Amino acid sequence: MEKRFYVTTPIYYVNAEPHIGHAYTTIVADFLKRFYTMLGYETFFLTGTDEHGDKIVKAALHNNTQPQEYTDKISAIFKEQWKSMGIEFNDFIRTTEERHKKVVQHVLQKVYDNGDIYFGSYGGYYCFGCERYFTDKEMVDGKCPDHQKKLDYIQEENYFFKMSKYQQWLIDYIHEHHDFIRPERYKNEVLAMLEGEALEDLCISRPKARLSWGIPLPFDTNFVTYVWFDALINYISAIGYPDSDLFKKFWPVSNHLIAKDIVKPHGIFWPTMLKAAGIEPYQHLNVHGYWNMESAKMSKSLGNVVTPSQLLEKYGNDQIRYFFLREMTFGLDAKFSEEAIANRINYDLANDLGNLINRTFNMVQKYCDAKVPPFHSDEPANREDMQQALQASIQQYIDYVHQFQFNIALERLWDFVRYCNKYIDESKPWQVAKENNIKKLQSLLRNLLEGIHAVAILLSPVCITKSPLVIKALKASAQCTIDTLPAMSSLSDGTTLDSPGILFPRLEKETETVNSAHSTKKEAFMETTPEGLIDIKDFLKVELRIAKVLQAKAVEGSSKLIELSIDTGKDIRTIIAGLAPHYTPDYLTGKKIIVVANLKPATLFKKTSNGMLLAAKLSKDDAPILIEVNDKVPVGAVLS
Ligand code: MSP
Repeated sequence: MEKRFYVTTPIYYVNAEPHIGHAYTTIVADFLKRFYTMLGYETFFLTGTDEHGDKIVKAALHNNTQPQEYTDKISAIFKEQWKSMGIEFNDFIRTTEERHKKVVQHVLQKVYDNGDIYFGSYGGYYCFGCERYFTDKEMVDGKCPDHQKKLDYIQEENYFFKMSKYQQWLIDYIHEHHDFIRPERYKNEVLAMLEGEALEDLCISRPKARLSWGIPLPFDTNFVTYVWFDALINYISAIGYPDSDLFKKFWPVSNHLIAKDIVKPHGIFWPTMLKAAGIEPYQHLNVHGYWNMESAKMSKSLGNVVTPSQLLEKYGNDQIRYFFLREMTFGLDAKFSEEAIANRINYDLANDLGNLINRTFNMVQKYCDAKVPPFHSDEPANREDMQQALQASIQQYIDYVHQFQFNIALERLWDFVRYCNKYIDESKPWQVAKENNIKKLQSLLRNLLEGIHAVAILLSPVCITKSPLVIKALKASAQCTIDTLPAMSSLSDGTTLDSPGILFPRLEKETETVNSAHSTKKEAFMETTPEGLIDIKDFLKVELRIAKVLQAKAVEGSSKLIELSIDTGKDIRTIIAGLAPHYTPDYLTGKKIIVVANLKPATLFKKTSNGMLLAAKLSKDDAPILIEVNDKVPVGAVLS
């Protein structure tokens, strides 16, 4: 089968300017387009704006302008926003374009001619935010759960699409195509809606007398189409339905990306509309969760918006892309916080990746006059081992992206980044240089440069600015593909390297100041009985987790403290431990340990410790013995 991939974002309403929720979906689509292009697929990426309907007219009036003028303005803002973020869409569709209107009318006529559209009367509760009716079951206290507004009761004569006719077909189709809607929780959500009650027919028109800002029905020009019937068709109008080559090539591999707010129109209205029009269903509906700020969804109607431009300016484009892809588990909600962004930048990008690149380039500068050193097969410096680690990371990275598990994909890629850092720590090139083992030193540094090159290529769909800088600094052959990377022979002996510069500057965190030490905190929340026993509910307050030490280093100015960067399975964080007199950083790196994960932060020697590790002592003055955990126990496991 031809390797092709078609990705779409929702077309965004133009009643407000782009916010980070929109940016997230668009960045994921852009990442996927670049990723599949890297794998040699022919790709097509569509985004655009949804410009008809009541709320657009209201927004235009509110801004003292006409709908067309208003939509032209906001649509251009969306387009510019994406361009300023380096988003490489292939097409940008606007529902007010002629090419779109023609296809909507074509589809309406086709469904009408098939007898699946009829005229009738309907009354129901309508949410203008969602632009759809809500069933009794879906309403919460008479309100739309998303927009938190009382719903309006609307009764009018309109045209209806016989959606109910396709209910059983859709149930069967979803059962037969297990990943038609993914992740599974949303497939189940759609099935619950379909299997729970009889599907109502869909009201697909609005009387022109009430709303003229829409596409006229081809069979009755006194009515315009309902926004969703209009909007969903963008996915096929943009690629030239019914008979363009683009449509034939890309419709069979269509991947819609949406958030959970619009599952019903995409999971139920759209496939039944396609079926009625005699068009094959899309290939996959991919649903992600919300980015939440504090407790509510971030949305224009709720007013808690951070603009993408503000974020980009403060943190950088690649950093935000990395954060979005690494932080959210696709399908689940994620909490948006600037602290989480700073952590990702400092730990993953500056510490792990940035340090690896800096250290290696500095050593090549120092020991090899900034020239790519040759590899010596009689002194391979564990090259095969590194090749295997790289091969494993690439395979898993690809597999997880295929499954839309971007956070795990990046974690697996970071396994290799960390492998390389450990490789430096363990092979100690500075010592090899002191011993004057030139061949080994050259092989070591060459292996590292090849490893960095592979990471830069693999990361290029994420870090669209910094990856090319690294590849350019390495002067790698443009010929290399993802398949040639594990061979680790993309660079040329003797090439003079450029400096990639500081790729990911560290951010100074605005940390909360905490004034007391951990031990007193721990005592503070425990109620003990006179016998010194605690209640089980007190014990359960303590979150004990298995964590892995990613990096360890001595805290400057202290003879006792070691700073550990640990992976707790839910985050990467720093803890400070008084182990320096007893353990070396090298010994600690890679160890699995037990940490108290829900301690309030404490500041020690200007370093913030976010948790405490467990160590054992026979008596107060004994040396602590670190409690190490068997390698079989997974990181993130909770002790109970
Ligand atoms: N116009 C319709 C879609 C029609 S598609 C045929 C629409 N537009 S919207 O402007 O409201 O965009 C909704 C989409 O924006 C979500 O499905 C999601 O892709 C993105 N997001 C909006 N807020 C979001 C979050 N807080 N978090 C994650 N994504 C968010 O609905």
